[in-house]
Amino acid sequence: MEFADVVRRRKMVRSYTDEPVDPAAVERALAHAVRAPSAGFSQGWGFLVLDTPDDVRRFWVATVKDEIDDPDEWLTGMMPAPVVIVPCSSKAAYLGRYAEPDKGWSDQDEARWPVPFWHMDAAMASLLILQTAVDEDLGSCFFGIPPESEAAVREEFSIPVVFDPVGAITIGHPATTVGAKGSPSRRRRKDLEEVVHRGRWTTTD
Ligand SMILES: Cc1cc2nc3c(=O)[nH]c(=O)nc-3n(C[C@H](O)[C@H](O)[C@H](O)COP(=O)(O)O)c2cc1C
Repeated sequence: MEFADVVRRRKMVRSYTDEPVDPAAVERALAHAVRAPSAGFSQGWGFLVLDTPDDVRRFWVATVKDEIDDPDEWLTGMMPAPVVIVPCSSKAAYLGRYAEPDKGWSDQDEARWPVPFWHMDAAMASLLILQTAVDEDLGSCFFGIPPESEAAVREEFSIPVVFDPVGAITIGHPATTVGAKGSPSRRRRKDLEEVVHRGRWTTTD
């Protein structure tokens, strides 16, 4: 598929069939994920891959708890996806990497970081997973793990304390039914003129 088509066709899919996903497609998505850039080449990411019905169910039980028995439209559409990937980031890996001799400082002061690059890098890797799904004619959706469920997900899958899940990604074959919508449908993609500021910032509102 042309790269521009991958970019244009990518959208979050929130309704899946339970048709299995070719494991090779998941491997390609992961192989692409680790091609993402990372600050200081820290690569402080980890990817929990859940690709059996039992593991995927354990993910949903840990994430939504009792709601699993009375799922809303969103959950009903998402749960059949045969693959869930949980991208995680390690702040410690970045603080440690930037304290190495080829970097500018030796302390591990978090205040030196303009934004949390550890989360940024996991997000960049996540986008490559989403784009690979498009290229494989699959659907995918990045979504947040509710803060109140994070401990249960960690515990269920033995995620080490030095790693933080930044969200989760479903991968599967899109159902023909539309499924839950994301943001309200009245929201539209902003025009370039609204978000691009050439030469100087131009305020439009
Ligand atoms: C950081 C992040 C968190 C998101 N969290 C959720 C979520 O919890 N549930 C959900 O259904 N979609 C979630 N989305 C998907 C957005 O709603 C979606 O990207 C946005 O509405 C634009 O639609 P599109 O990606 O299909 O173009 C998230 C996206 C991002 C980038």
